[in-house]
Amino acid sequence: MDELAALIERFDPDDPSFVTDPYPALNALREASPIFWNDRSGQWVVTRFAEIATALRDRRLGRAYTHRYTHAELGRPEPDTTWSRFDEHERWSLLCLEPPDHTRLRRLVSKVFTPSAVARRASNIEGFSTELLDRCADLGTFDLITDYAQPYSVAVICSLLGVPASDAQLLLDWSHAIVKMYELNADDATKTAADRAAGEYIDYTRALIAEKRRSPDDLLVSELVRVEDEGDSLTEAQIISTTMVLLEAGHEATVNTLGNGFRALMLHPDQWQRLVSGEVAPSVAAEELLRWDSPLQLFERWVLEPGVEIAGQELEVGDEIAMLFGSGQRDPRRFDRPDTFDVGRNEPAHLGFGGGIHFCVGAPLARQELIQSVAGIVDRFAELTLVSDPVYHRTFVIRGLTGLRLSTS
Ligand code: HEM
Repeated sequence: MDELAALIERFDPDDPSFVTDPYPALNALREASPIFWNDRSGQWVVTRFAEIATALRDRRLGRAYTHRYTHAELGRPEPDTTWSRFDEHERWSLLCLEPPDHTRLRRLVSKVFTPSAVARRASNIEGFSTELLDRCADLGTFDLITDYAQPYSVAVICSLLGVPASDAQLLLDWSHAIVKMYELNADDATKTAADRAAGEYIDYTRALIAEKRRSPDDLLVSELVRVEDEGDSLTEAQIISTTMVLLEAGHEATVNTLGNGFRALMLHPDQWQRLVSGEVAPSVAAEELLRWDSPLQLFERWVLEPGVEIAGQELEVGDEIAMLFGSGQRDPRRFDRPDTFDVGRNEPAHLGFGGGIHFCVGAPLARQELIQSVAGIVDRFAELTLVSDPVYHRTFVIRGLTGLRLSTS
């Protein structure tokens, strides 16, 4: 076996030791090759920052292909209809659309997430954080994920969409089950659970939409309903998918960025002190939290047109690529001392929010939430320490901790 083949062998999302710390294997792969064929997943895997950044902006690549080709035309199997409720839930998700449908839905959603729209809600965002941190202070020892990051990010997104805060736990449970579908190694039990959760979630969202029709407010779900009622062709199915993708995308990645980021801060007390002393601003540190231990490790695209070449490798229409964000974020061609966790690095042009037409629509909100959280926690808990060794979930694509126990003294 040659060296690259041996490294590809180590790229195994089913292997707990790889998932616990993927970076040595990712670094070795990236240095060996900018792109490689992965037989396990049937994809071309892209490892370096520049190639990933270019691919994200290449309009000949798409998150979906069904707007252009049938499954048969690309030699792909017909989709498994067993998971029909899951398919229904993401049918109109921004993440599954390409222009022109993507352009129209994205324009509607973007209005609500502009930096100025987020700034108008800043006091809300701060209020949720303060309330939860008060409770963490009372507890003395708390879990950053379950006592803070989850309830915080769900409260924020629910308040923007107009979803009752009392339903937050329901949404969290559904969302956790659904996102497991995006792992490379999801088994049938996981898919069944995701499908069931998607079904319940659709029914819930349908009822929510009916409620907004009866008693409208000025929040996003109502806005979408209004567009439909004003004669534009936004269907209920489109409103359902849009609401759900915002709820899912709107908290999972934020929670995991906070979890992975505070783990890093606790393991690097010198960097924590730079925040406590005020040497580094929370807004600057937030960017390194997004870069150093990516909460989203892999994104895929389909090749839609002939002539696409990545790092000298010619690709054919119907090929699928997988971009390794966690690897690109540690690329020494782009970042000085990439493995060093440096809260003062000040490099906001990382891959954390993607690029091109699917660039994270929630990025201004996510940044606001991260900055608010870092500032609030540093201000109150200068003596923060780890209570126990944090453990990562056994998933690769979505990288996050099962918990992060911290002590305030
Ligand atoms: C730290 C937190 C977050 C991270 C790291 C993150 C990351 C990303 C990335 C990398 C993409 C691009 C996916 C691709 O190109 O295939 C994306 C898309 C998206 N994100 Fe985020 N996100 C975060 C928070 C949020 C929040 C708070 C929201 C919603 C309020 C949100 C909503 C979305 C949506 C709807 C898309 C799809 C956009 C489109 O396809 O046009 N994200 N996110």
